[in-house]
Amino acid sequence: MNRNPVSTSLAVQSARRTIAILPMLMQAPANQDLRTHMAEAALLAGLAFSNTKTALAHSLSYDITLQYGVPHGIACSFSLPLVLEMALGADDVADAALLSIFDATTPASAVERLTAFLQGLGVATDPARYGVDSNAWQAMVKKAASGPRGRNFIRALA
Ligand SMILES: [Fe+2]
Repeated sequence: MNRNPVSTSLAVQSARRTIAILPMLMQAPANQDLRTHMAEAALLAGLAFSNTKTALAHSLSYDITLQYGVPHGIACSFSLPLVLEMALGADDVADAALLSIFDATTPASAVERLTAFLQGLGVATDPARYGVDSNAWQAMVKKAASGPRGRNFIRALA
């Protein structure tokens, strides 16, 4: 909800660099060039969300960490394919930016590419893998959507 053209541009650049760099960095964690590129991607992400504050995925992460003990970075990221699926279709400008991250032409292919990216890093994308069953997940999404971060999501879910 709080996005603007500057934050969108920063976010897209950050995500595209992360997708390109992080899998290589995981294979070569001592590589200084890759670490520099990843640090720059993280900086761009920080600049993006310092404009907007975080949104639904971050809101969801709090209960996942507190109730299920999932580390913060994993708790913030594993739900992104599900959150992306919920986000796509809400706004044409946001859709174009989101699809451009994945060089995708359809929502399904963007979600598929994000899922494959995370799974390639060893991050399971099914909430059940963290012990969150379907009913608990639905309740968490509803609760997260009603909080201040969740209300910054592109769709009203609560
Ligand atoms: Fe965080």
